[in-house]
Amino acid sequence: MKKRILTGDRPTGPLHLGHFVGSLQNRVLLQEEYDTFIIIADVQALTTNFDRPERLAEDVRQVALDNLAAGLDPGKASIFIQSLVPQIAELTVFFSMFVTVSRLRHNPTIKTEAGAYGYTDMTYGFLGYPVSQAADILFCRADLVPVGEDQLPHIEMTRFVARRFNELYAGVFPEPEAMVSRVPRLVGLDGQAKMSKSLGNCIYLSDEPSRVAEKVMNAVTDPARIHKTDPGHPEICTICSYHDAFNQAEHGNTVEMCRAGSIGCVACKKRLLQVLEGFLEPMRERRAMYSKPGLLDEILETGTERARREGEATMEKVRSAMGMDYFGGAR
Ligand code: TRP
Ligand code: SF4
Repeated sequence: MKKRILTGDRPTGPLHLGHFVGSLQNRVLLQEEYDTFIIIADVQALTTNFDRPERLAEDVRQVALDNLAAGLDPGKASIFIQSLVPQIAELTVFFSMFVTVSRLRHNPTIKTEAGAYGYTDMTYGFLGYPVSQAADILFCRADLVPVGEDQLPHIEMTRFVARRFNELYAGVFPEPEAMVSRVPRLVGLDGQAKMSKSLGNCIYLSDEPSRVAEKVMNAVTDPARIHKTDPGHPEICTICSYHDAFNQAEHGNTVEMCRAGSIGCVACKKRLLQVLEGFLEPMRERRAMYSKPGLLDEILETGTERARREGEATMEKVRSAMGMDYFGGAR
């Protein structure tokens, strides 16, 4: 039996190259080896976007298309919508009975995010979303969870929930392990530490070729280079770090030529653009293919249906472990 992985995203906007490098690329490889579930966490998106649910439908579509465009294969990975799997909500309620408020308040990611959003008080749903995320992972009894480092406290919570449930009632859940991405974070177009939608420094997977070209050609480079023969400092240049991330084979050479002043920034950017387009273009083709009327809905319905079946199998074990299978197991 294949091991199972579960991972996914909040649908809060289109995915960018930072997501591709940090997670999507890895998912595409993992689907060959693992039984793969990809969650589109629309309920979790409500923790911060509860006042604008009207954007969710479009964001869910875009995030699903971003995953498919990156190479997730619906024949290998089940892509599903969190809110349409009621067993996740059921598990969240059961788990919330034995997770204390102080454990949630001490969660470092919750603290950081609350600070970033400037929350002076927190909603019940925001404070409790790590419990809901544990249910996202445990409903299908996943073994592994590929995530970025910031998600580690949530995986710890998930392991705690699994362990505690098993102690309290019966051994239903495996303790899933985090599979942390070791790829360095992609810097933003403006040279800031992180490519991020809120900083407005992203190349989106769905950007048109002309947008990508405009963004790359306008990116900040080494400010000390005025003439193309000036020796450069590639270690502080955004474009150089993109060569590192997307054009490994030529990275060393680019660094040397930049230092020697034997390549100009325009030529260096044009080369990067060629490399980027080498994989963005196939993504656009896959996006167009999956955008055919009805196809995306069908993929999401099939993935969600499978998630519900797994969720119901888990709920049967949960009810039986807790002695809550009141009518002999049949509901
Ligand atoms: N919290 C994750 C993020 O912000 C998204 C997410 C929701 C998730 N449920 C998950 C990730 C379960 C991994 C497993 O990116
Ligand atoms: Fe950056 Fe390339 Fe210009 Fe060097 S030549 S500063 S690496 S864009």
